[in-house]
Amino acid sequence: MDQEQKQHQTTRCAASPSLALVKYWGKQAGGVNLPATTSIAVTLSHLETITEVRLVDSYEKHCVRVAGCLQDSERYSPFFDNLRATLDHDAWFEVDSINSFPTGAGLASSSSAFAALAFGCTRALGRSVPSAQLSRIARVGSGSAARAVYGGFTRLSAGAQQAEQIAPQQHWSDLRVVIAVVDSGPKSISSRSAMSRSAETSIYYRNWIDSSEDLAQRAERAILHRDIEALGSAMRQSYLRMFCTMFTAEPPIVYWLPETVAVIRACERLRHNGIPAWETMDAGPQVKVITTARWSGRVAEALSRETGNGEILVVGAGAGPRLIETGAVT
Ligand code: DP6
Repeated sequence: MDQEQKQHQTTRCAASPSLALVKYWGKQAGGVNLPATTSIAVTLSHLETITEVRLVDSYEKHCVRVAGCLQDSERYSPFFDNLRATLDHDAWFEVDSINSFPTGAGLASSSSAFAALAFGCTRALGRSVPSAQLSRIARVGSGSAARAVYGGFTRLSAGAQQAEQIAPQQHWSDLRVVIAVVDSGPKSISSRSAMSRSAETSIYYRNWIDSSEDLAQRAERAILHRDIEALGSAMRQSYLRMFCTMFTAEPPIVYWLPETVAVIRACERLRHNGIPAWETMDAGPQVKVITTARWSGRVAEALSRETGNGEILVVGAGAGPRLIETGAVT
């Protein structure tokens, strides 16, 4: 392929968000986005970031737009610098990205965004890199994106450069995630800032780090045995301990809304009635509830009574990034 053709090469691809069941919250020194805790996650079906990557011939044309809005180049420069160094290719890109779900609202949009970007940029350069390398590239954009380059169930170990798949999406085909979107607006503080404030100021941060490996091991075992009760109880401890570090940060970080608490209570009532409904949350007010296909309708109905005008989404375990099309733009 000659230089002229290369500069017009376009790749469109999609990636789905990685929902942490046991959380990555805090970073280790010695690298970019090296996680301080082991996280265990599921890549979600149906929700996608769709990204179009075009090779351009100069730095001046290099840009990233999300839903048409030009993004701050500083947020992306560690990712692109590392990509160029890793692939040993001095390339510039014009990127347009859209999400099929609310952006920046605590639905893990940065995980799918950087997984799609890593996938799209490598493909636009005509390179098909192994998933482990793609995971390392995506991690530099966002820690959680290291997991989203795989479908199914994943682990990103504390201190690891890359995530790995622990089970494919078919492993637990009747698992469902019911998402209660109680507020689709952007969050008040980014997960990155909230994470560093928690690490710097919460007296419980050390306990969080020390106790998280055990939760990760419990969750991984539970996934391998498709044991929703065991997974649910490890998941619940993980998000509540993570929020403990946020509530006790200075100044405190409180993403929760009244509807958030109402949904958590609804999950308690469902479990009391023998229905599996185990919640987790990320950096935002939304509540994600794991259940099984058999119960997902009942769970969705119960949660919708608590979310006011909020949306309810029902998804399952999904696939890794996919290529939609690649070719020359005319
Ligand atoms: C609460 O991956 O967005 O969703 O590495 O700074 O970009 P950076 O953080 P990010 O944080 C994810 C935090 C979380 C938990 C998780 O996904 O494990």
